[in-house]
Amino acid sequence: MSQSEAALLETRSVSVSFGGFRAVRDVSLRISPGSITGLIGPNGAGKSTLFNTIVGERKCDAGNVRFNGQDVTGLPPDAIYHRGLARTFQIPRPFSAMSVFDNLMLAAPDQAGETFWVPLLARNSIRAREREIAERAREILAFTTLDSVAEEAAGKLSGGQQKLLELARVLMSTPKMIMLDEPAAGVNPTLTRLLVEKIEQLNEQGCTFLIIEHDMDLVMRHCHLIVGMANGQIIFEGDAAAAQSNETLLNAYLGATVDE
Ligand SMILES: Nc1ncnc2c1ncn2[C@@H]1O[C@H](COP(=O)(O)OP(=O)(O)OP(=O)(O)O)[C@@H](O)[C@H]1O
Ligand SMILES: [Mg+2]
Repeated sequence: MSQSEAALLETRSVSVSFGGFRAVRDVSLRISPGSITGLIGPNGAGKSTLFNTIVGERKCDAGNVRFNGQDVTGLPPDAIYHRGLARTFQIPRPFSAMSVFDNLMLAAPDQAGETFWVPLLARNSIRAREREIAERAREILAFTTLDSVAEEAAGKLSGGQQKLLELARVLMSTPKMIMLDEPAAGVNPTLTRLLVEKIEQLNEQGCTFLIIEHDMDLVMRHCHLIVGMANGQIIFEGDAAAAQSNETLLNAYLGATVDE
């Protein structure tokens, strides 16, 4: 991507610390609209911390985050979600006792029905909005093939189905961009293929993806750009072929020092 082309998501020199430990160091990243980018690197590289910072769950000590042409640094997570940037968690976080369908209903933004003092006259339009949300939830359940378990408690689903539910939930907000934290971890090959197929379909419809993943086969096959992190820093950017022959990246995975 040329520097003049507008990035959908951009981090500029972002650093994040836990006490005195710098988990993310001076990370500058540009994600072009319509792309699928893979974020790879060994355990503890800072990948999830970077995600948490981008979506407003963790404050950065320095740098800034821009999404869709606006500075979103320091905004609360729900404000960023409403702007069309959604993320899923490394460990799925469904409302376990609630049904799969209700988990989707809760993920819909702009639920006027949550307000206690609903004026009487607004009630019809709220019911119409609820019907719309339910309709969308049903469409997404069908899309993610979770329709057969719609009435099951979310906590009863298999690990792989819970990952699909994570994706289904963020789709309720019609995001411009989805960040997935290890979508294939602990998921069987059949469900992983299904998940990848859904990601590709959504990408064809214009949704941009940033995916943290340790499944190298998935990353190499499906990501247009690969970004490698180690020790909180970006150590590689390039395509699958370049990633596979990059010594710095290989050394990072082997636990060797990346400082040259
Ligand atoms: N809440 C926290 N408090 C203190 N240290 C943390 C916290 N979260 C993460 N860390 C540390 O920050 C570093 C980066 O962690 P992070 O979870 O971002 O890595 P990761 O690249 O996502 O790793 P993995 O591939 O294992 O998920 C690690 O050394 C981790 O121990
Ligand atoms: Mg992580």
